[in-house]
Amino acid sequence: MPSYRDFHRRSIEDPEAFWREEAKRIHWETPFDTVLDRSNPPFARWFVGGRTNLCHNAVDRHLADRPQQNALIYVSTETGIERRYTYTELHAEINRMAAVMRSLGVKRGDRVLIYLPMIPEAVFAMLACARLGAIHSVVFGGFAAPNLAARIDDAQPVLIVTADAGARGGKVIDYTPLVDEALARATHKPPHVLLIDRQLAPERLNASYLIDYEPLREQFFDAHVPCEWLESNEPSYVLYTSGTTGRPKGVQRDVGGYAVALAASMKYIFEGRPGDTMFTASDIGWVVGHSYIIYAPLLAGLTTVMYEGTPVRPDGGVWWRLVEHHRINLMFTAPTAIRVLKKQDPALLKQSDLSSLRTLFLAGEPLDEPTASWIGDALGKPIVDNYWQTETGWPMLAIQRGVEVLPPKLGSPGVPVYGYDLTLLNEDTGEPCAPGEKGVITLGYPLPPGCMATVWHDDARFIDTYWSSVPNQHVYSTFDWGVQDEDGYVTILGRTDDVINIAGHRLGTREIEEALSSHTAVAEVAVVGVADALKGQVALAFVVLRDAGGYATDEARRTLETDLVKTVDRQLGAIARPARVHVVAILPKTRSGKLLRRAIAALAEGREPGDLPTIEDPAALQQVREALDTQRS
Ligand code: PRX
Repeated sequence: MPSYRDFHRRSIEDPEAFWREEAKRIHWETPFDTVLDRSNPPFARWFVGGRTNLCHNAVDRHLADRPQQNALIYVSTETGIERRYTYTELHAEINRMAAVMRSLGVKRGDRVLIYLPMIPEAVFAMLACARLGAIHSVVFGGFAAPNLAARIDDAQPVLIVTADAGARGGKVIDYTPLVDEALARATHKPPHVLLIDRQLAPERLNASYLIDYEPLREQFFDAHVPCEWLESNEPSYVLYTSGTTGRPKGVQRDVGGYAVALAASMKYIFEGRPGDTMFTASDIGWVVGHSYIIYAPLLAGLTTVMYEGTPVRPDGGVWWRLVEHHRINLMFTAPTAIRVLKKQDPALLKQSDLSSLRTLFLAGEPLDEPTASWIGDALGKPIVDNYWQTETGWPMLAIQRGVEVLPPKLGSPGVPVYGYDLTLLNEDTGEPCAPGEKGVITLGYPLPPGCMATVWHDDARFIDTYWSSVPNQHVYSTFDWGVQDEDGYVTILGRTDDVINIAGHRLGTREIEEALSSHTAVAEVAVVGVADALKGQVALAFVVLRDAGGYATDEARRTLETDLVKTVDRQLGAIARPARVHVVAILPKTRSGKLLRRAIAALAEGREPGDLPTIEDPAALQQVREALDTQRS
């Protein structure tokens, strides 16, 4: 194995040669003619002309070597259900689901919107889409109806797959009323809605448009649906993510590049070997779930563990017992989960036999030093922080232990991953930053395989949003601040835009502002993210009322606050709920009317906002200060 530095250099200097070699990790029904088409930057097309299929590579290909190995172990501590599917059984379930979808008219290139909780059928549905060449768009289960409606209108699915309910922390969340409301709001009307009936929801909707999956599954029990061989650059899925505007962006991924990138990452970053067991505690609605619950472990012939529940129910030892019981080798979650576990009885961790576990991977938000040290010491195993985004699909920064075991540095996710030409640039000049100097983390053209191909049906938005924000440079912006040291280790310093990260969930402050603005009492609103010991960040809202006189008493204000919080819950879901809503008479803005969110956030974190020469009315800052003082007292 070459050293990390040589490996990375080779991937940047000669990406064609580098990725031609890595492409051997997957099956190509028809070989590609060209490794990389750079004729239309910033678009990059990988493995042009090659034909392959994600489902074939993730499942069918393993039937010869590991037919009886578990492919999927499903554990729900919400329902007490545990199920195991060998590769043979998973293959059969996917074929049934694919046949049902086909009978409902789903074909290559169609979109299927998947709105499901963490149940095995979600995996079957995603892989069935892959098999048929249909494009899945998974929307996080329980996401609020207006959100779901926006995604239905953007993706224009021919089918929605949903369930009667999800469950979290012992609470059942009915899905069908949400789907019903979303369909009423959406302009696009999908012809079919398939229902996985878990018999969980007490008041589930019995709408006539819901098609029960179970009888259809029986009907197609022995079906075999051949894989569609897709050109490498056909879309595999669209996953919506938050940005600076309220309009969600559909991150479009390809087929061949994604398969190759994930398979390579399993070797060089995750060190997952065929037959290993990997437990990624995330959700299939997030990119970590797409890549590391489903596609990557299966592509590499592992057993993947899918978990419905929280890390602390029935107690904080539940994940460690899973490790012992299923002999889990690789575990992947977000720092928030570890911070939650740290607050539990530490003895719980010692009660299980964790000898099978080799490495713990953490991503999605900054890994603070106390959490990293605590879990590292408690487990006595390597902790691999890795930094990436929905857009990239797989890590950009990490210690790549499968290449070279570089020493970790607390507070840093490590060094640029092979394939990524990652540079820190000055926000104002576009010049490269010196070591130690803060800059925007950017990626040079071309993005490596597996990264977003474009914004779904909006190439212009892909260029405008991602490739046009750094002066004098045609680079991809991550919209993250960072600083790189002499050895190449990067530390993440937060977002350059108005995106916040609550417990590893990415949210646009603009989305929360739009939800609050929809309340009739609200004239103006500013939402900022502020540091929080447990969740990383929480949202704080400051609102100006249309008629402040109408809410003069404390009680009226409190009722309004509760009502505003409920509005966010309804429109975006509880994840986006502001920790507090403060009523102020005026918001700090520049003379040209731009909200000074950074100044508000600074005050909320107890920092001074610094000089604000362009502020319209300094009294506005005083208002924010006073609101925060009442919150603290
Ligand atoms: O700000 C960075 C933060 O999460 C953002 C991406 O979130 P999302 O699209 O949900 O994808 C998560 C995939 C793991 C990034 O722009 N972020 C992600 N990983 C880290 C991180 N911040 C610090 N350290 C990380 N390891």
